[in-house]
Amino acid sequence: MSPRPFIVAIDGPAGAGKSSVSKLLARRLGFALVDTGAIYRCVALMATREGIAFDDDAKLGELLGRVRIHFQVVGEENHVFLSGEDVSGEIRTPAISMGASQVSGRPVVRAGLLALQRRLALEAQAGAILEGRDIGTVVFPDADAKFFLAADPEVRARRRFEELFQKGVDSSLEAVLTDQTQRDTADSARTVAPLKAADDAMHVDSSSMPLSDVVRTLEQEIERRRGQRG
Ligand code: DC
Repeated sequence: MSPRPFIVAIDGPAGAGKSSVSKLLARRLGFALVDTGAIYRCVALMATREGIAFDDDAKLGELLGRVRIHFQVVGEENHVFLSGEDVSGEIRTPAISMGASQVSGRPVVRAGLLALQRRLALEAQAGAILEGRDIGTVVFPDADAKFFLAADPEVRARRRFEELFQKGVDSSLEAVLTDQTQRDTADSARTVAPLKAADDAMHVDSSSMPLSDVVRTLEQEIERRRGQRG
């Protein structure tokens, strides 16, 4: 039997730099990248399209059985496909962000997506990077390397605003900060799998660190742990 792929867990709040860091790390290491936030966003998108309320557990439960997701690198980006349709742009709107935060608070949704997240990672050849909120605590408590990325709220909101601006989404820094505060509170306060650092996660604050330094810090730790695993 071939050994389990090397699993890297990267958790942290919105805008802490998880996506940029994970993307670069995955490319440098030749690892698969599983953006678990994109999976919750796909559930919110499906619910929206089907007119299902974000707190309708019965209908959400039924919908989960029909979630078909795969990730594929297109150009420089990690695209997400829902039943073969590229929904990478559509899942990033402010409305779907709020929806994803709401559905992710439903225990039925969290439980229903566990196996999918694990399978996507275990299918990888050499290794997989999973980014999310509860990877090191719930999805892979036995991950080979765990990180918790943080950054000041204003810095995170500025990053998200710039990202939306570049995509041509109309917004304001104030609106992004308000949304972010609301999501941070909901994600941290919920009873099931709240946003929380694993006890054995390495903490990295990216507020005033260039992206390349953050990537290098994580890569060094991953290489050290790969060496230990042999
Ligand atoms: O990382 P993101 O902004 O794309 O995540 C969208 C929402 O999904 C976010 O509000 C929190 C939730 N989420 C979660 O609860 N658990 C995860 N592992 C990933 C995301």
